Amino acid sequence: MKKILVVDPIQELAIKELKKEFEVVYHLSPSYDEFKDLVKDVDVIILRSGVKINKEIINAGKRLKIIARAGVGVDNIDIVTAREKNIKVFNIPNISFSSVAELTFGLILSLARKICLADSQLKKNIWKKSELYGNELKGKTIGIIGLGKIGSNVAEIAKGFCMNIIACVKDDSFERRKNLIEIGIEIVSLQELLKRADIITLHVPLNEETKNLITKKELMLMKNNSYLINMSRGGVVNEQDLYGALKNKTITGAASDVFVKEKEENPLFNLENFVATPHIGAMSYESQEQIAKILVKNIINGLNGKKIENRIC
Ligand code: MLT
Repeated sequence: MKKILVVDPIQELAIKELKKEFEVVYHLSPSYDEFKDLVKDVDVIILRSGVKINKEIINAGKRLKIIARAGVGVDNIDIVTAREKNIKVFNIPNISFSSVAELTFGLILSLARKICLADSQLKKNIWKKSELYGNELKGKTIGIIGLGKIGSNVAEIAKGFCMNIIACVKDDSFERRKNLIEIGIEIVSLQELLKRADIITLHVPLNEETKNLITKKELMLMKNNSYLINMSRGGVVNEQDLYGALKNKTITGAASDVFVKEKEENPLFNLENFVATPHIGAMSYESQEQIAKILVKNIINGLNGKKIENRIC
């Protein structure tokens, strides 16, 4: 019987379906040594963003045939080694974009209207309306960095709030600029976006180009009354520099769903003008249900030599 190792939370439905055909080992967040040991005799690893699959882990997987990423980002998988070893890797993009885009607005509103601060004050029986002035989104400029599925959905939602939309993209060809301006999105350089936007939100993958995209230099260009939201990956924003900017009030507030080191304490958590969520952008029932169905289908197809959707290698 083929064996499947699950190391990150996936929908119950997928586990139930997989158990009909395979042996399923469910071991969330294994330590590095546990992971190396667990992987020895499995055919498939199912993961999300909570673990890293490096060369050593892949080499330890003597029977490994498929690495199934139940989500979008593959920055935590050594694709080069997987390809060398003929291990199939797939991800499941294009499903959780609404979930992530909607949470982006959850965080924007939490910052702009001090919802988290108000909640924590009230639960301590502090009723101080005068400390809880906030900003309306209407008429403000949102600067979206990265206009893939998620960034584009953020732009759609921003229209509903009557915001002006500027964006910074990798492909800023004349044709793309023209198409985007027709739907109310102005493409600008990163520098211009940082200077003009009231709210800046990041939706880019983590790679060599985007690592430390936002450092002290970029934060200094932002307006004093602006907010920064990171929904992409820890490492895209330099956390020490962000801490400095929030502490010195160079910017008004920031929120992040992602961190350089997740599941760990972070100095940012001590700041009142910082809102944090534990990488839950894609954690909606709707998205995870759809992801579960594709996951099961792809694994069964892959192990039977049939076509896998969204195969990376
Ligand atoms: C993703 O890349 O899809 C998100 O980071 C969510 C996750 O799978 O953990």
